[in-house]
Amino acid sequence: MSMKAQLYLDTSYRLAKVDKRMFGAFIEHLGRGIYTGIYEPDHPLADQHGFRRDVAELVRELDVPVIRYPGGNFVSAYNWEDGVGPVEKRPTKLDLAWRVIETNQVGTNEFASWARRVGSEVMMAVNLGTRGIDAAMNLVEYANHRGGSYWSDLRREHGYAEPHGIKMWCLGNEMDGPWQIGHKTAEEYGRLAAEAARAMRKVDPAIELVVCGSSHRDMPTFPEWEVTVLDHTYDLVDYISMHQYVGNRENDLGYFLAQTEGVDQYIRSVKATCDYIKAKKRTAKVMNISFDEWSVWYHSNETDRYVEPWSFAPPLLEDVYNLADALVVGLYLITLLKHADRVKIACMAQLVNVIAPIMTRKGGGVWRQTTFYPFHHVSRYGRGTVLQTILDSPTYDSREYTDVKLVNAAVVLSEDETELTVFAVNRDQESDITLECCFSSAGGMEVIEHIVLENGDVMATNTEEHPDKVVPHSQGRSVMKSDRLVAEMPALSWHVIRMKRR
Ligand code: AHR
Repeated sequence: MSMKAQLYLDTSYRLAKVDKRMFGAFIEHLGRGIYTGIYEPDHPLADQHGFRRDVAELVRELDVPVIRYPGGNFVSAYNWEDGVGPVEKRPTKLDLAWRVIETNQVGTNEFASWARRVGSEVMMAVNLGTRGIDAAMNLVEYANHRGGSYWSDLRREHGYAEPHGIKMWCLGNEMDGPWQIGHKTAEEYGRLAAEAARAMRKVDPAIELVVCGSSHRDMPTFPEWEVTVLDHTYDLVDYISMHQYVGNRENDLGYFLAQTEGVDQYIRSVKATCDYIKAKKRTAKVMNISFDEWSVWYHSNETDRYVEPWSFAPPLLEDVYNLADALVVGLYLITLLKHADRVKIACMAQLVNVIAPIMTRKGGGVWRQTTFYPFHHVSRYGRGTVLQTILDSPTYDSREYTDVKLVNAAVVLSEDETELTVFAVNRDQESDITLECCFSSAGGMEVIEHIVLENGDVMATNTEEHPDKVVPHSQGRSVMKSDRLVAEMPALSWHVIRMKRR
């Protein structure tokens, strides 16, 4: 007899409206993310600005409302002034974070204009590693002030009459990490972030600010870092950041697929830490979360060690993703949706070539990695309201995690409330599982599409030569039976079940 999981739902039991910025991404000056990724002036498909049209098309397809830029570790030693003004006068510098050459051909103006063309807002990070308040407030003035001041007039002189209107700003990047250039203690960073926030907001009171939380959940300073930093900044910022990458370094699939349980626990701990400071400060303000770096990262760890230092745009962090990685991306998105009450911004890291759903070849083609698909599905059908559901599923134990549900799922009611979409993963490595969605009132619902991502080989990948090895199909088996939907979930598969009122 096949195993069964049950999902109980009622459209009036709602968790939170999804902030569309949950489907954000990240592009860093790193490897081939920018150069020969989104920007390649010599490419036959480059537009008049030097950006690849074929890449822009796939970015538009993913529909990412926000893109974090320019780093990442890169930002902690970056002088933003190097990246503006006449291109031929821009300095070539050593990027100390990734030990490569940075030519500064792309900077704030080019990136902000490209982001607008692909339908995204920029989420700008400032350098609080080697620099500080002055550089940060000047950049806000340069980017957002209309004109009539030194920095805003300089932007106009550089050919950008209209301000970029950048709303979201990150106060540095991973400042708790000893690998960060200008790494700080929580006390040092908390004070600096508070003063930078005050000054930046004086320049533009409309901006939103993200303060750095921990770099990942195993940092020895977590969660004390959050406590100290929020003690200094709670009233001054809008979000605290979270970062977490997962990987299958141990070659243990069960454990890999369970790692989003750790992400779930991590979000709960950060929420609790924020609420502790809220109570301490006796304030009504709720601190929201910007999960601005998340994804799968491990395939390239070994080969990256052998990349020649001080080269220009070398292939770095070029993970080639398989079906298992796509399932983890799906599980990650389900986890984020289930915390939509507090996670308002999230950025899949990264977008092109660097641990990315979109890959390019210099002078060649562009293709979708396996991880492209779950992101695309949730970005497309996950906008609306996340429902409070009850999920009963058979479980398994893995190293570190016990009682892991074999099926994980989240349900979103569309903005116009006419469609319900179930996103689900079957983690079982051998067995199909029947998922029953039990509605308190299913009358009048019909299945309009059941998309499945599956493959006999969980290690299958997409490449330029074989870009369609792992692609979704719409032949999922599901039927509506009076008050329930019955869906078949093959072993190791991702599902998007779309239902509509009849
Ligand atoms: O995304 C790659 C790197 O991971 C980023 O530069 C850094 O912020 C994180 O450690």
